Amino acid sequence: DERVTVPSILAAKGRRKLTMLTAYDYLTALWVDRSGVDMILVGDSLAMVMLGHEDTLSVTMEEMLHHTRAVTRGAKRALVIGDMPFLSYQVSVEQAVENAGRFLKEARAQAVKLEGGASVLRQVEAIVKAGIPVQGHLGLTPQSIAQLGGFKVQGKDEEAARRLLDDALALSDAGCFSLVLEAVPAPVAEKITRSVPIPTVGIGAGPACDGQVLVTHDLAGLFDRFVPRFVKQYDQLGARLLEAARRYREEVESGAFPGPEHSFGLSKKGG
Ligand code: KIV
Ligand code: NA
Repeated sequence: DERVTVPSILAAKGRRKLTMLTAYDYLTALWVDRSGVDMILVGDSLAMVMLGHEDTLSVTMEEMLHHTRAVTRGAKRALVIGDMPFLSYQVSVEQAVENAGRFLKEARAQAVKLEGGASVLRQVEAIVKAGIPVQGHLGLTPQSIAQLGGFKVQGKDEEAARRLLDDALALSDAGCFSLVLEAVPAPVAEKITRSVPIPTVGIGAGPACDGQVLVTHDLAGLFDRFVPRFVKQYDQLGARLLEAARRYREEVESGAFPGPEHSFGLSKKGG
């Protein structure tokens, strides 16, 4: 299959639904890429899912690049998007361009994602001007969790919904090629999707978005510290891994494993 490109993502709007999943390592990227999804996001959610942090705030550029390098080795077809970590783009436009560039130059991603609207427009414009495609992210933006006061649905009242729409239009004007909408009421996400010329990619944002995104470890049933309402678990790989590990332990303890078929003898004469 041909590589998914930024123009092909833009061209999908109104024609077909887009899909995005996360991956944080080579092997997961390989399997997810084979599924035919359009985009693979190396999300900063890896802070929680891979590294066991409480939230996404403490993951560093070096850690994000380390994981992104592994993902781009596994993903042959999907567009790989590196998620810019907290404080890698907020401080200055210069820092934002430099850090965005590292995802492409050092980790071979094809695009970056960053959170926020009006407050990051100058950064988005400068990164796009440098030739780096940017995906926006509005609604529940986990890097602002201290300000939002928790993982809550955003844009519930009329004024907040209006602000989301303004931010979405501004991000589109600034040059974003797509826009993640996280934990936004379905009617608000629908209005935004109809109003912007770029594809919206929803997570907890209803069915009207141009595409959907989930965390792979959530859909596989591997991450169960909490399961938000918007997650659908397509499998229970955590429970299956637990069972496999438990059976292994029991068989070793009972002497059932390893059997003769897993063991080596001495070489026969002439062999
Ligand atoms: O970090 C992440 O996984 C994300 C997606 C949930 C959009 O930002
Ligand atoms: Na993220």
